[in-house]
Amino acid sequence: MIFLKTDEEVELMRASNILLGKTYAEVAKAIKPGVTTAQLDKIAYEFIMDNGGRPACLGYEEYPATLCTSVNEVVVHGIPSDKVILKEGDIISIDSSIELNGWHSDSAYTFPVGEVSPEVMKLLRTTKEALYLGVEQAVTGKRVGDISFAIQNYCERAGYGVVREFVGHGIGRDMHEEPDVCNYGRRGNGIVLKSGMTLAIEPMITLGRRNVLIEEDGWTARTIDRKPAAHYELSVCVRNGKADILSTFDYIQQVLGDRFI
Ligand code: MF3
Ligand code: CO
Repeated sequence: MIFLKTDEEVELMRASNILLGKTYAEVAKAIKPGVTTAQLDKIAYEFIMDNGGRPACLGYEEYPATLCTSVNEVVVHGIPSDKVILKEGDIISIDSSIELNGWHSDSAYTFPVGEVSPEVMKLLRTTKEALYLGVEQAVTGKRVGDISFAIQNYCERAGYGVVREFVGHGIGRDMHEEPDVCNYGRRGNGIVLKSGMTLAIEPMITLGRRNVLIEEDGWTARTIDRKPAAHYELSVCVRNGKADILSTFDYIQQVLGDRFI
């Protein structure tokens, strides 16, 4: 069942996403060599709680933290740990969700740690561009496969791998709602998009092979070839002519300044 949101509900989802964007800005301030992913998680947990939100990942299917902190070859669902210490040249994907006044937000952002190789910076840029190409397709009358195709086509043409095991999704009262929003697919396939549908679009793109495996902890998903992966995500509302982007990277941009890509 796909739930179309009223304008009032969309505004509540935007408020949740703004809080998530501000949370990521707090995290971004702390991302530097020497910090542990557990420290980043604590910053996010406290900021969300102080602002009346509920960290929606914490306890979700027994997930043990507020943030997913996925470093280098970890694609998604890296668990924050005091043993994972960021170093110069790493990349870290931060992914989380907040429930605020009953409504969920979801977005993700891959940050460089200090100076990162040009090859990996290009992966980050391409993944983010692919996300926006997907978002452009989230308009009334298009199909979900148009989003999928736009992302896959752009990333594969650039020579990257498109992860199949994790997908975007509907979002609203629940963190995961119908429909699935795959990052691979065919133009003109899938359900027709309607005004008021809210979707989390989230390409997960690899520098090398697209295949992933889940580590012993049951969560950490890493590339099998241990080459890096990037992940950017925005929650959007389908509208006539132009998608309404509910998430925001603006607060991250304020922190990163000219390091923002
Ligand atoms: N933001 C993630 C998603 O896109 C949420 C994963 S949270 C976890 O679905 F609880 F599953 F870790
Ligand atoms: Co998501």
